[in-house]
Amino acid sequence: MRVLVKNGTIVTALNEYKADLLIEDEKIAAIGTGFTGPFDKEIDATGKYVLPGGVDNHAHFEALNTDGKTTNAGYDTTYVALLGGTTTIVDFCTNEPGMNMVDSVNYRLNVRAKDRCAPDLAIHACCTDYRGQETLDEVKTLVEMGVPTMKLFLAYKGTALYMDDSKLLAFMNEAKKHGMTMMVHAENPDVLDLYRNSMAEQGNLAPKYHYMTRPPFGEAEAVSRTILFSKNLGCPMCIVHVSCIEAAEVIRKARSEGAPVIGETCPHYLVLDKHKMDHPDFDIACRWVCSPPLRDQEDRDYLWNALNRDWISICGSDNSSIPLYQKHWGENDFRAIPNGCPGAGDRMNALWTYGVMKGKMSRQKMVDVCCTQPAKLNGLYPRKGTIDVGVDADLCIMDPEYKGTISVETNPTGIEYNVYEGCEQLGRPDTVLLRGHVVVEQGKYLGTPGGQFIPGKPYGLAYDLLK
Ligand code: URP
Ligand code: ZN
Ligand code: ZN
Repeated sequence: MRVLVKNGTIVTALNEYKADLLIEDEKIAAIGTGFTGPFDKEIDATGKYVLPGGVDNHAHFEALNTDGKTTNAGYDTTYVALLGGTTTIVDFCTNEPGMNMVDSVNYRLNVRAKDRCAPDLAIHACCTDYRGQETLDEVKTLVEMGVPTMKLFLAYKGTALYMDDSKLLAFMNEAKKHGMTMMVHAENPDVLDLYRNSMAEQGNLAPKYHYMTRPPFGEAEAVSRTILFSKNLGCPMCIVHVSCIEAAEVIRKARSEGAPVIGETCPHYLVLDKHKMDHPDFDIACRWVCSPPLRDQEDRDYLWNALNRDWISICGSDNSSIPLYQKHWGENDFRAIPNGCPGAGDRMNALWTYGVMKGKMSRQKMVDVCCTQPAKLNGLYPRKGTIDVGVDADLCIMDPEYKGTISVETNPTGIEYNVYEGCEQLGRPDTVLLRGHVVVEQGKYLGTPGGQFIPGKPYGLAYDLLK
């Protein structure tokens, strides 16, 4: 199939220029002008920006909720990522009951996600069932299978998700032998337990006590501890969903001293305020309960600056589409609200609107943090995350003229609500191509050729920092 994308402005992490793209057999075959037909399809991108398809470093589809048992919305809802210009999701694979990590990844690819994942799919392992050496031995196999990243949760004590420091250290020692990048959810579990339980014991049970009991210093302490481990063991790391100045500042300082550490933040920490959870109606307030929690304006200002300066390198969605009936499990106690917000569909919209259009971020930087650096971290680059001859023809063609107000009807999440409901949207992905197939046209989802598993290579971006 031959597709021509003409008259657009191509944006990569490094530059921006006017050119046409010739696509053949799912790849970008040539970049230039004057291509001659016949073409199976011509896309006129006049007045639009042609970005690489987004790579979402942080997605939880059909994943264990933070109660360690139930699952959130599944792969049938992954089409929202394509609508938002993201053509590859990197999804967390927790252990299936009674299965080790390797079997769980196979189960995810061959059963759960089979014929159901709309964008392309890469996987982070996520250990929720640690069995000593036999579990550590899986690291090598996972890397060989194309899963070169693993997340551990240093929070959510009392659930299957929680991993203590001894397990983290054991994994780090093993991971560095095979080029696996370890990732952590960094919040100090004892700080959380103390604050959350004493708040609840005093009868303070509404959603707002969620953010009041997860102080920034608890996040910063866990980040700091992890980085000390990383430096001493020589194991490259990614600290995911960084939410506040204190934690980001630890990463900035460590990177300036040469620590092999990559930071990720998420659009909700850049755009939304913790006071959303003050709403008196539980049904509304519970929607923004995620961990770490939403913070303050100073934190948002710092995080935009941190992305621009590459103190924090990646913006992942942390998509956790938790239906309202599950959020309501915490109606009488904020500690029982499953944590997480939907966001795969609005990650690029949020960065474009509140970064690019509001003058806080260049288009190149937006591409860097949403496409290129996540692809590099996961060993998917250059196949994913950039526009170049020979790479997958994944494109997000942005219409900068679009103006709208986000609602769950216009910007679906796969569940009943959108955490950006009522927020202004400036610009949107007008046309999206997945390996040369048009999957979104004029902002409408057309269907997908079927997302493919894209194996990642080991020794991703964080390992470059060891050199
Ligand atoms: O609140 C969050 N972030 N939920 C998803 C699980 C996680 O911690 O990443
Ligand atoms: Zn997490
Ligand atoms: Zn997450």
